[in-house]
Amino acid sequence: MTVLVTGGAGFIGTNLVLTWLSDGFEKLVTLDKLTYAGNRRNLDGLSSEHHELVVGDIGDRELVACLFSQYRPRAIVNLAAESHVDRSIDGPGDFIETNVVGTFNLLEQTRRYFDSLGPQEAENFRFLHVSTDEVYGSLGPLEPAFTETTPYCPNSPYSASKAASDHLVRAYGHTYGLPTLTTNCSNNYGPYQFPEKLIPLMVLNGLAEKPLPVYGDGQQVRDWLFVTDHVRALKQVLENGEVGQTYNLGGEAEKSNLEVVSLVCTLLDELAPTGRPHANLIEHVRDRPGHDRRYAVNPGKARRTIGFAPSIIFEEGLKATVQWYLENRAWVASVQSGEYRNWIERQYGTLGSADKGRASR
Ligand code: NAD
Ligand code: DAU
Repeated sequence: MTVLVTGGAGFIGTNLVLTWLSDGFEKLVTLDKLTYAGNRRNLDGLSSEHHELVVGDIGDRELVACLFSQYRPRAIVNLAAESHVDRSIDGPGDFIETNVVGTFNLLEQTRRYFDSLGPQEAENFRFLHVSTDEVYGSLGPLEPAFTETTPYCPNSPYSASKAASDHLVRAYGHTYGLPTLTTNCSNNYGPYQFPEKLIPLMVLNGLAEKPLPVYGDGQQVRDWLFVTDHVRALKQVLENGEVGQTYNLGGEAEKSNLEVVSLVCTLLDELAPTGRPHANLIEHVRDRPGHDRRYAVNPGKARRTIGFAPSIIFEEGLKATVQWYLENRAWVASVQSGEYRNWIERQYGTLGSADKGRASR
């Protein structure tokens, strides 16, 4: 038996492949385009008996059809996406191409494959679509957390493209009977996260004694979940989720961005002391356009129905994450390529000097 994982060389995908295989899961085949966010070295060292990496695009019709006939997977886990909100503001085109058109192609090829299966294989087949809490939009400070029935209200090109893909998945379940499952998860953190995202960016800037760019007043709130808790929950959804259902996943760990950055600074003071408090590096910079103020997830349905129970508290997970970045300097150096430097320059300008790029408020 084989499970096809798209986007398996990215942050969550890598953690999923490594965790599922170490938990004794069956063979995984990763389909990944290896964009700037994908890294084949993350998956080095896995034997071909347990894992294969196919480099390619979920939007490539022939390739996806060919993978179905070659591997005859019993399930697909769709993680492939453009995932960074700031990049979606800078240039939404790739987000539409991969998150919407790519998912559409994957669904089309899956439908053809599904229709060719015998009754037993069809009964067991699943399409698990991994999505985000951002599709629900932004919460006020006292509003209750997102549930599966919260209306969709995406605010960024990224979240709009994910919402579109969720709707397509839903429609393929409803119209064609494709056995779909969808998860909407809150912010993940942990090893292998590309350092364009808040936590690894702050860790690496802090280590390099560079400014720590906090957007606006830093009082925006996110709900954090350690990545291995997320990928184990995805396994539970795949195995025990009810076809056609959606599941909200989150850590019930709401923190303001300033709280998160301050905690990173305290950990760096302890684990990589320089004699000066890292918090001195914090700089408030111009806010993200259309910045969602607060996300919070109510994971009650997943807890009740599939036994979802995160095991790692935020402070513990954050320390393990900072330690991972300290111990994996070669990985860090390998992803901080020319493309990464171009993005940082475009997004943040020269922080510390007057009004360049985002540094101007
Ligand atoms: P990531 O950007 O780290 O990785 C995405 C992976 O997808 C990369 O390996 C990239 O090469 C690959 N990819 C991109 N376009 C592709 C294409 N057209 N064909 C094949 N592969 C392609 O993202 P991530 O943080 O690991 O997120 C994975 C999924 O989980 C995404 O769908 C994202 O929306 C969702 N999600 C992420 C979070 C989070 O906090 N990171 C939270 C909830 C949901
Ligand atoms: O909620 C789930 C989502 O979480 C996922 O769907 C996305 O793929 C993932 O990128 C993440 O989106 P966010 O926009 O919440 O994550 P990001 O790490 O980019 O930012 C977290 C918060 O920190 C957000 O409020 C913006 C802020 N921020 C971010 C960066 C990169 C800063 O203040 N400064 C920064 O330099």
